[in-house]
Amino acid sequence: MPKLELDGVTLHYHDEGSGEPIVLVHGFPLSADVWTPQRAALSARHRVITPDLRGFGGSDPMPGSPSLDVYADDIIAILDELGVGQATVGGLSMGGYIVMALLRRHPERVRGIMLVSTKATPDTEAGKQARNDMIALVERDGPTAVADKMLPQMFTERTRAENAELTSFVHAMMSASTTAGIVGAATALRDRPDSTATLAAATIPVLIVVGQDDVLTTVKDAQAMQAASGGAQIEIVPAAAHLVNLEQPAQVDSAMLSFLDETTNP
Ligand code: MLT
Repeated sequence: MPKLELDGVTLHYHDEGSGEPIVLVHGFPLSADVWTPQRAALSARHRVITPDLRGFGGSDPMPGSPSLDVYADDIIAILDELGVGQATVGGLSMGGYIVMALLRRHPERVRGIMLVSTKATPDTEAGKQARNDMIALVERDGPTAVADKMLPQMFTERTRAENAELTSFVHAMMSASTTAGIVGAATALRDRPDSTATLAAATIPVLIVVGQDDVLTTVKDAQAMQAASGGAQIEIVPAAAHLVNLEQPAQVDSAMLSFLDETTNP
């Protein structure tokens, strides 16, 4: 797995396929492996770059003040290292918030965006309290306790009952996160700004993907992003919750490939 040394921090990423560059940014508290089906499907026709964000997968935790802007700047450092000027960038949940940070900080590097299971609005007061509770939980009981707490909301009841392999895969991925990575990301998530105006100002192609049964980032949140962006394509995926890309990979891969066919050069 290639890696980049950046100010004493090691960042790991995958770089597969060739063609138009696509970056896929993972959610919380996951790693680049959450994109396993999409890496396979998209890299048949495109160059697919999937970073492990700081504190997740093989990457070192974030020193100093955690912010989504740091993750966004790390992605630019990886693109610089690879000599990639512009890319289509997709983000899952926290990855979507990071895509919006990229749009604010480096709009010239973004050719189009794919927002999966995410929303433009910031945390409510109750949401901020839940982040603080999550920080206290991981500091007390470690990443596995966070995985235990979050897993039920990742998949539909049916998938949890019938697909033990998938649920264990995600539980193990979450449990492998570092405590410092989870504390840093939860802090950055809690303090993130409203991105509605960022989305409204964007003039690039936008694809929105949401699981019909997602309770963390709902169909209503996705439709609000579509309204803000004016003209975004939206894919509402039945029989899927938050990790829609793992629960219904065929539908998500096909929505992404069609969007990429329409918006990138062959
Ligand atoms: C994620 O999947 O990245 C998180 O659930 C995002 C969030 O909690 O807002």
